[in-house]
Amino acid sequence: MKISVIGAGYVGLVAATCFATFGLKVTCIDTSTEKIEKLKLGEIPIYEPSLKELLLSALQKKDINFATSYDSIEHSDAVIIAVGTPSAEDGSADLSYVYNALGIIMDIVEKHNKHLVVVTKATVPIGTAKKMMELVNDRSLNDYISIVSNPEFLREGSAVSDFLKPDRIVLGASNGEGLSVANRIYAALIKKGVTVVETDNTTAELIKYAANSYLAMRIAFVNECADIAEHAGANIDDACLGIGLDSRIGTHYFAPGPAYGGSCFPKDTKALQYYSRGNGLDIKIVDAVIASNDARRDRLAARAVQLFIEHDCKRIAMLGVTFKANTDDMRDSASISVVASLRAAGFDIKMFDPSFSKEAEEIFGQKLEDDLENALHNIDGAIVLTEWSQFQNLNLSYISSKLAKNVLIDYRNIYNVDDAKEAGLLYYSIGRS
Ligand SMILES: NC(=O)c1ccc[n+]([C@@H]2O[C@H](COP(=O)([O-])OP(=O)(O)OC[C@H]3O[C@@H](n4cnc5c(N)ncnc54)[C@H](O)[C@@H]3O)[C@@H](O)[C@H]2O)c1
Repeated sequence: MKISVIGAGYVGLVAATCFATFGLKVTCIDTSTEKIEKLKLGEIPIYEPSLKELLLSALQKKDINFATSYDSIEHSDAVIIAVGTPSAEDGSADLSYVYNALGIIMDIVEKHNKHLVVVTKATVPIGTAKKMMELVNDRSLNDYISIVSNPEFLREGSAVSDFLKPDRIVLGASNGEGLSVANRIYAALIKKGVTVVETDNTTAELIKYAANSYLAMRIAFVNECADIAEHAGANIDDACLGIGLDSRIGTHYFAPGPAYGGSCFPKDTKALQYYSRGNGLDIKIVDAVIASNDARRDRLAARAVQLFIEHDCKRIAMLGVTFKANTDDMRDSASISVVASLRAAGFDIKMFDPSFSKEAEEIFGQKLEDDLENALHNIDGAIVLTEWSQFQNLNLSYISSKLAKNVLIDYRNIYNVDDAKEAGLLYYSIGRS
């Protein structure tokens, strides 16, 4: 079976590489020549554990290739759209990349009178597949193109294992041909017993937005519980365990932090809010989740400034800048507002992140430090924003010896309060006295 994947970003590249390991012949297409040239050499343009090994093996077996042209589509059984759907100014999802990809596909189908299954893996708002079908109908291509909605649930940082061991595969389609091709694409996983949820396109789109909004809600909720714990002198970590061990609740996505960020939760909650408002639906929970998270991001940035000022710190080390560990992705990272607030208050900031994120250097207009030792040299206080294991394994006496004013703010609760105190640190974490 031959497939083409449009988009070689976090989702497209992981999906293309994993599909190649299933024995499909995959061409992964991107508009970025630089990205494609790197990928042809087996170089990964993103930080994603295990991806490089898998890619090198697929390249060696010639199961995957990379292109900037769309020529492979003519010979493909299916095309997977994995382009970005970023937030537009008004909170809606910007679908220009998706519609552009569909236009290119339709041109090829029209030219070659070819039957093709188009699989939308990008996260697209409820109703998008219907609009895509209208566009297909407008060009009288409905006998040639079937659209399958196949939302992706992988998480950056564990994308390969999430893709290879998914909790479920969601396939939304309005006809049997699309479903049958999509089932063949996923045959290797289906054989292993992964559950396939077969439904219509619109329901598949709803599943993705509802799942992400629910996870965002858990994080926003636990963050509010952390505020209550802090006020009351309780311990949020023990509380999360005590609450999460209830099998009806669970411990996943149930830890406090500096506000959720990343490429999905902020934009997907906003897109669901936009859809609901635009359709006159009186939904309240997603509104509250967004407001709670936005307020938290600003509040924690202001709190860091206040604590460093109180303790007369001037030079700060920031440990971790990415939105979470094991990725170089900076989209909607909490570090962006913390850096802006610290800079506005006149602090000197050094930053270190184990991903050495180039995107971070562009956003901040500042080089990241080459190593942790450099980041911790000649500073007054430090703030942990990302839960990288390299930080979790740090010796607290070592950190203390490096901080002239001994102030350590930990917005990931990665250290033990008593250990920090014993190491002589003025230690501030979340939801713990
Ligand atoms: N990143 C995640 O963790 C994640 C998880 C699940 C779902 N998603 C969804 O998957 C989609 C892709 O997300 P991503 O993080 O991979 O985005 P990304 O920005 O990392 O990658 C998108 C890629 O598409 C390319 N592209 C855009 N238009 C193109 C075209 N016409 N032809 C060829 N290439 C084109 C871009 O150059 C870019 O490399 C989004 O809808 C996102 O919401 C993302």
